[in-house]
Amino acid sequence: MLKVIVVKDYAELSKKGAEIIANTIKENEKPILGLATGSSPIGTYQELIKMHNEGSLSFKNVSSYNLDEYCGISIEHPQSYYYFMHEQLFNHVDMDEANVHIPSASGQDLEADCKKYNDALHQVEIDLQLLGIGSNGHIGFNEPGTPFDQETFVVKLAEGTRQDNKRFFNSIDEVPTHAMTMGINNIMQAKKILMLISGSGKADTVVRLLSGEITTDFPASILHNHPDCTVIIDEAAYAKIK
Ligand code: GLP
Repeated sequence: MLKVIVVKDYAELSKKGAEIIANTIKENEKPILGLATGSSPIGTYQELIKMHNEGSLSFKNVSSYNLDEYCGISIEHPQSYYYFMHEQLFNHVDMDEANVHIPSASGQDLEADCKKYNDALHQVEIDLQLLGIGSNGHIGFNEPGTPFDQETFVVKLAEGTRQDNKRFFNSIDEVPTHAMTMGINNIMQAKKILMLISGSGKADTVVRLLSGEITTDFPASILHNHPDCTVIIDEAAYAKIK
């Protein structure tokens, strides 16, 4: 069962999201967070930075594992998820860089890179995994059709996903064709999952998610089987729910 929280707008979603993450950080001596990129969590990261600046939240003991990373672009590329995470969060809080883990798919041996990241994930238990959702229901970069028992792998991005993410690049040709991502099974191991869904563009996605049908055609549907998954949805994204 998903716990659904409907909020007014993106600002409220970001505040609520940050509050849940801050609680996880405060409740654990050595909190381990699974972090996400995309536009959905940006406001939440800003709220967390605000709490840090006000002195009410420290990331000193936090470790993080990111969901995914594009293949074929360097970490200095402004659209790499490494760059995104530093810009949007890590550079603004007291996070120890040694505790930051982001998939790295820049090596010659992608399979070895995946195994290394997957082995690292098996060493830890993520306290809270933050997720956005692709319009086709992807989580991380687990596109429709990905088996639910999938672990870290290199994925060929769906054409629709490349189109969705084109807005961040100069042209569609610059959007990477592949990415390295935690698999669905890795994501499901987290103790708690928090998904953020915002905007009218996700209204059909929300209808499909909340229909309750569990199918690999819509990867996020597996979250119905997670024991502790909260989904925060703003009114625009919730608009087609009767
Ligand atoms: C990318 C990321 C996902 C993210 C999705 C939705 O594809 N790999 O982790 O959830 O985009 O992004 P947005 O939040 O910008 O809609």
